[in-house]
Amino acid sequence: MTEPTIYGTVITTEDSPSVSGFAFVIHSENSGVKRGQFVSVKTVEGTAIATISNIFKTNKYFESAGSVREYSKTTEMYTAFPIKEWEYTVAETKLLGVYTKDGMLNRPSFPPSPGIEVTEVDLQMLNRFLGLDQERGIDLGEIQQHSLRAKFNLTKMIQKHMAILAISGAGKSYATAVFIEELLSRDPKQGRVALFVVDNHGEYVSFADDPDFKERINIIDGEDVRLAVKNTGERMFAALLPEMSPVQIRELGKVLHHLKNEKHTFELKDVVDAVKDSEDIKKASKDALVGWLSELEDLKIFAQDDYPGYENLLEQGKMVILNLRNVLDLRRKQLIVRQFSTKFFNLRREGKVPPYLEIIEEAHNFCPEGTRSSEALSRHIIELLAREGRKFYANLCLISQRPVQLSTTALSQCNTQIILKITNPYDLDHIKKSSEAISQSTLDIVNSLKVGEGLVIGEAVNYPVFIKVRKRKSKESHGTKLEDYAIMYEKKENKLATGKEFL
Ligand SMILES: Nc1ncnc2c1ncn2[C@@H]1O[C@H](COP(=O)(O)OP(=O)(O)O)[C@@H](O)[C@H]1O
Ligand SMILES: [Mg+2]
Repeated sequence: MTEPTIYGTVITTEDSPSVSGFAFVIHSENSGVKRGQFVSVKTVEGTAIATISNIFKTNKYFESAGSVREYSKTTEMYTAFPIKEWEYTVAETKLLGVYTKDGMLNRPSFPPSPGIEVTEVDLQMLNRFLGLDQERGIDLGEIQQHSLRAKFNLTKMIQKHMAILAISGAGKSYATAVFIEELLSRDPKQGRVALFVVDNHGEYVSFADDPDFKERINIIDGEDVRLAVKNTGERMFAALLPEMSPVQIRELGKVLHHLKNEKHTFELKDVVDAVKDSEDIKKASKDALVGWLSELEDLKIFAQDDYPGYENLLEQGKMVILNLRNVLDLRRKQLIVRQFSTKFFNLRREGKVPPYLEIIEEAHNFCPEGTRSSEALSRHIIELLAREGRKFYANLCLISQRPVQLSTTALSQCNTQIILKITNPYDLDHIKKSSEAISQSTLDIVNSLKVGEGLVIGEAVNYPVFIKVRKRKSKESHGTKLEDYAIMYEKKENKLATGKEFL
């Protein structure tokens, strides 16, 4: 075994070393010691693991403001004194745990001694400390500053749901694609779930062009989705039409009931006609109902029968992509997501579909905080999944660039969070509140993460950890650049008229 690299020596400060942390002077600036890194020291109890929370420089020549000002008047200070030699780099750490001789992990109850060496942490120990799963885990990349694969246990990662949060462009969809690759590539012996992705922008459809994945992908175009009117109760209409009074809801209920008894199947137009013909409903009430119901026809979603059929869609090791790219109306999108989520969850509860993970891109659109329920038609089912899903192995992954706008009920149930770069102070604050383990120094790092770098917190790890998301193996979908599209449009290639077919 090679000797671990020595990074520095524990020093005394006003209040350290203590059981909560210590500072050490870094031996060489080139040793690559970074904030957020894990290090190790020996204590009387065993081998302790600590994380670097801050790094600063000090130089005793610059301690007194008065003398610095005096000396600055001449340039002599820099030649007369060995100033450079008195510059030190000091790292502050937080002690996280200590492995005793018999391999038990304890809270440190005794500090390390000043003067002892701080070394790199043993990777096997770090692996155990973080609770990673190198054998069967989901490989998202590398633990930052350590050559250790960031492989997370599937159960811990998704069974209590997860969320991927970051500003736009930080790499959420890319990280999700890596996550999907891992899930689709699992061997049946490793345990496989079915995947259902709500793809707002058609970003994941490129999986179907990739020879390694295409057999396992089923794309459903949101434009084609239909809801059978015969399966739509008055409550659903009430959710869509908040203006309806309780009396009108009851009246509509009667009409629907009557139609169901009379006809095998029917359309929205038949409901409108039945309302018009009803002798029980007062004229004013009737006119309003007819008006509202006719408006719903514009959503172009109600029909005689459901499309698609839901029973055989979900398969283990395969992915259903609901492509909402061409659906512009937000309420229509929500209705579609509500339909899929409800159908799948009900089928799962009946044991008719395999365990699955529902991934929702732009989740704040489907499960918003604080908006009226008529404008959040899919919120109820997503919150229900968040609260009850895990008992039935129906798991959620919410992706959002606006955590503050995401339902607190749903987000608080996402026990694993992958946080890429976030800059908005409200969003940062929101995340801090949702996890006790996050310290201010960790949060400061989140603010300055690069694309593809992220913080993993919650169930999946025993301690918050920074990762670098690995490169994708699958084909990435690249939209056409504006310039190229403009050139093609100018050539009057008619079939590209809207760009819809093209992207
Ligand atoms: N881990 C990564 N490695 C390489 N490129 C990445 C990585 N993560 C993101 N990118 C690139 O950064 C850009 C933005 O990523 P994307 O996932 O679309 O961001 P978001 O979904 O958060 O808006 C894309 O062009 C993507 O290819
Ligand atoms: Mg995205």
